Amino acid sequence: MAAGSSFATTAGSAGSSGPPTAGRMASGDVEWFSADNMTTGGLVWLIRAVLVEARRVMRPNRSALVFTDWRMVPHLAPALESSGLRCRNMIVWDKMSAGLGMGFKPSHEIILEYTNGVTEYATKDGQNVIRARRVTSGERDHACQKPLEVLAKLIDVAVPEGGAVLDPFCGSGSTLVAAKQRGRRAIGIEIAEAHAETAARRSSTLLPNTALTGGLTAKED
Ligand SMILES: C[S@@+](CC[C@H](N)C(=O)[O-])C[C@H]1O[C@@H](n2cnc3c(N)ncnc32)[C@H](O)[C@@H]1O
Repeated sequence: MAAGSSFATTAGSAGSSGPPTAGRMASGDVEWFSADNMTTGGLVWLIRAVLVEARRVMRPNRSALVFTDWRMVPHLAPALESSGLRCRNMIVWDKMSAGLGMGFKPSHEIILEYTNGVTEYATKDGQNVIRARRVTSGERDHACQKPLEVLAKLIDVAVPEGGAVLDPFCGSGSTLVAAKQRGRRAIGIEIAEAHAETAARRSSTLLPNTALTGGLTAKED
């Protein structure tokens, strides 16, 4: 679940801890795209293509959760709807502190919820505002790392115990770690080998007995 990140579950929902964002982003030496920049249009097409495939593997009555920011909502919403999913909710992650800038400084992120049928939730305790502080630069392994606390709250509501979470843009593996910690299964896809290795390392550190198993990267194919 990013202004470009997403998170999804199969036996549950699909999610993206944020699709990639439009524009160039780097984390250390690792860039998100081999091309220079991804335009808003390119990002919208990528997310729609991913959601069409996510819907194919999602269980009925589950949620796709897509992290984004307010600028991208009018672009992403039609693309998500045209993937065959139904708009269900807009969740706000209140970061509890302001980012850089002037005037109304950014202090929240949006999570769009699209559903595959009439959603069945795992609990009645969910709310559409989640308050949690962001991961600071000193704490993070990825430039866009999401707090485990936010992902855990989304998973608690959207995914039944024992269900599976799919993050097709898993970065440092936060969604996968949160899912495992909450008793769900987890599948991650990550294009950058260095980030995939970070996800595996975080998994073995934070979940010593349930480390993620790896597959081949596109390069090794
Ligand atoms: C917003 S970040 C996700 C960060 C993650 N939520 C975390 O907490 O670490 C998006 C990730 O998607 C990856 N990505 C970009 N395009 C991709 C693609 N076509 N397939 C798989 N992963 C991709 C990037 O390398 C990046 O790590």
